[in-house]
Amino acid sequence: MAINIEQYHTPVLLKEVVELLVTDPKGIYVDGTIGGGGHSSAILERLDEEGRILGFDKDIEAIEFCKEKFKGELEKGELSRIELFNECFSNACSITRHRGKWTGFLLDLGVSSRQLDESRRGFSYRAVGPLDLRFSPHGTTAEELVNAANEEDLAALLRKFGEEPYAKKIARAIVQQRKISPLKTTVDLAKVVENVVPRKFLKKSLSRVFQAIRIAINNELEVLEKALNNSLECLAIGGRIVVISYHSLEDRIVKNFLRNFSTKRSEEGTIIVPKIKVLTKKPIVPSEAEIKSNPRARSAKLRAGEKIAD
Ligand SMILES: C[S@@+](CC[C@H](N)C(=O)[O-])C[C@H]1O[C@@H](n2cnc3c(N)ncnc32)[C@H](O)[C@@H]1O
Repeated sequence: MAINIEQYHTPVLLKEVVELLVTDPKGIYVDGTIGGGGHSSAILERLDEEGRILGFDKDIEAIEFCKEKFKGELEKGELSRIELFNECFSNACSITRHRGKWTGFLLDLGVSSRQLDESRRGFSYRAVGPLDLRFSPHGTTAEELVNAANEEDLAALLRKFGEEPYAKKIARAIVQQRKISPLKTTVDLAKVVENVVPRKFLKKSLSRVFQAIRIAINNELEVLEKALNNSLECLAIGGRIVVISYHSLEDRIVKNFLRNFSTKRSEEGTIIVPKIKVLTKKPIVPSEAEIKSNPRARSAKLRAGEKIAD
């Protein structure tokens, strides 16, 4: 496979991620969303021969891409400093537990530029593609969801996962449209939205609708919460967790996780000591210059914490 490393994905907040995450060149680093391997490459540069990266992605195409990208390293066999897993990041702790405690855990959530640009994945409303939107070829597709869910459930989903003000109208229009013919492509869905949302709000609504459906079919919020909670078991004391999120629903989950575990509290008479020290009082966001050179970075928010107790 010929690979073009530049075109796959531009890693967001690269310098900030590496500086916060890599505290020991001999450490074990779990990249839960390896994508095009941009962050992992930079982490790898900081590691010595004993350091390891365990890279996860649910998308087999990302894993295949990284197999090529890190070919030289992977060919070292047992001495390879990188290992790849085509798995959900919420399983990373159970899969890698036997390898030893983690020094760092990175999650760079959402979709890669490659996924957005490949119309056959259906992630973008800007190009004609099948209504798929899954990270891996398992489970319900967006097409199955929009053609089967009832109007109330569709409206609730658009409200909950997209915070979409026209949720009710869009849900009704979807149900009416599919009585005429089922929605099959990204453009079929985009047209329904176009018919009910005023022109000046259209772009935002389209993004929110596609986001909501993607979150729902990939179960993204539940998976994120599970991964954060599980990571505490696998992180070493002093180990760090760094998460980049791209919308407020994800960011809220990360913020609450860090707050809950960094606060001393009492539960049914038992004092719960903090397990985490928050490293980012406010989220770190990309600079103007980064946004200019990579507009897809504009909504990124990075939060980080360090495990301080078991
Ligand atoms: C924003 S991209 C990551 C880009 C990467 N940091 C880089 O530098 O190229 C997000 C990646 O996370 C993957 N992903 C999304 N949800 C996942 C999950 N639950 N488990 C594993 N990978 C997931 C996507 O397939 C995508 O490749």
